[in-house]
Amino acid sequence: MTTPEYSPGLEGVIATETSVSYLDVDIEQILVRGYDLIELAQNLCYTDVAYLVIYGELPTPSQAKAFCDRLVAEAEVPDELYQLFEMMPKSTVAMDALRTGLSFLAGYENPELLHDNSHEANLEKGIKLLAQTPTLVVNSYRALNDMPIVRPNPDLPYMENFLYMVRGERPDAESLDAFDRIHICYIEHEMPNSTFAARVIASTLSDMYGAMVGAVASLKGPLHGGANEAAIEFLMDINGEGGPTHAEDYTMGKLERRERIMGFGHRVYMRKYDPRARFLMDYIPKLAERIPQGQDLSSIYSTVENVMYREKGLYPNTDYPIGLLYYLLGIPIPLYTPIFLASRTAGNVAHVLEQHDDNRLFRPRVIYSGGRGLKPPASPISP
Ligand code: ACO
Repeated sequence: MTTPEYSPGLEGVIATETSVSYLDVDIEQILVRGYDLIELAQNLCYTDVAYLVIYGELPTPSQAKAFCDRLVAEAEVPDELYQLFEMMPKSTVAMDALRTGLSFLAGYENPELLHDNSHEANLEKGIKLLAQTPTLVVNSYRALNDMPIVRPNPDLPYMENFLYMVRGERPDAESLDAFDRIHICYIEHEMPNSTFAARVIASTLSDMYGAMVGAVASLKGPLHGGANEAAIEFLMDINGEGGPTHAEDYTMGKLERRERIMGFGHRVYMRKYDPRARFLMDYIPKLAERIPQGQDLSSIYSTVENVMYREKGLYPNTDYPIGLLYYLLGIPIPLYTPIFLASRTAGNVAHVLEQHDDNRLFRPRVIYSGGRGLKPPASPISP
């Protein structure tokens, strides 16, 4: 048998066929169900794009209304979820609480529906998860921080309710607009680690909830979704240690120590600009006026970007502007990656649907570097 070519980290390997999305790197375009993601973000709202991602085509006005109404109607979670979050050790990080919450939620699913991987059953579960995830995201964080639970407000549309729960008060129009567009930018992105994790899990014919729980664990890592929190922490560190005039030296010091600057580089874009980062950076100047440190953080942002391009030829990925934008929107930092997960739920639902609709188990091989021919002793070693 010939050994197939080995690609560490599966770099460049085609893992599956999909009609959900594609990174057309040569023309710096993210294709989502045939549309340019940035044009979707410029023109539509998150729930329209979520419908497109999940159903494969844009909704008619009446379908859009029914979809939005359903997301609002299904946003509440069983009371036991809130109790669970309150019982968790306060040292639990928000992404782990979210992961536990999603896993716990599976126990409240109708057992027949839980294990039914038909398209209709998966749609049912997927839309429910899309509706409920913001409630879990916000309240897992709030309970861990001894803040009162905020139940979803059925009088508010999906995205407004999400930002209302995050902030504890109804958002202004400018914040809501930015939050919605960021959510669209995060909605779907071909085959990142978390989507792959969800598909790998689904490919065993495990259920939608299990696939989502796996996606949370994957997204948490700082090389993936966790980079949005790490990116703002980095900008704040610079601001706390001398401000904009110190940004160049601080960044150079990190690079000289061969440390990574989170929010830069990308496995697929490599030396190309992430279209989402380019689109979203235009929101920074306006939102920077909202908080006292906004201008300094914005100036540090630009200096670091210039140094990274000059020294490494690397561009920002979308986590770099989003880390700053969420901060300017007054969102608590530990919520950045959980909110990313909520945005990506629509994409992951679409991928699990697609995986189950035409499943083939993921089961790769290895290059073995262990020993051979060793013989065990004739009797057990343990007492
Ligand atoms: N800071 C400094 N150097 C970097 C960075 C970075 N952020 N990213 C890549 N490099 C350098 C590496 O040191 C390496 O240089 P070398 O060849 O001189 O050693 C070269 O660029 C290639 O890096 P790899 O790690 O081999 O590239 P890979 O494709 O495996 O990495 C990754 C992609 C993990 C995203 C990487 O760019 C990184 O660590 N970025 C920071 C984390 C981050 O922002 N993640 C978010 C990704 S987007 C998302 O998930 C939404």
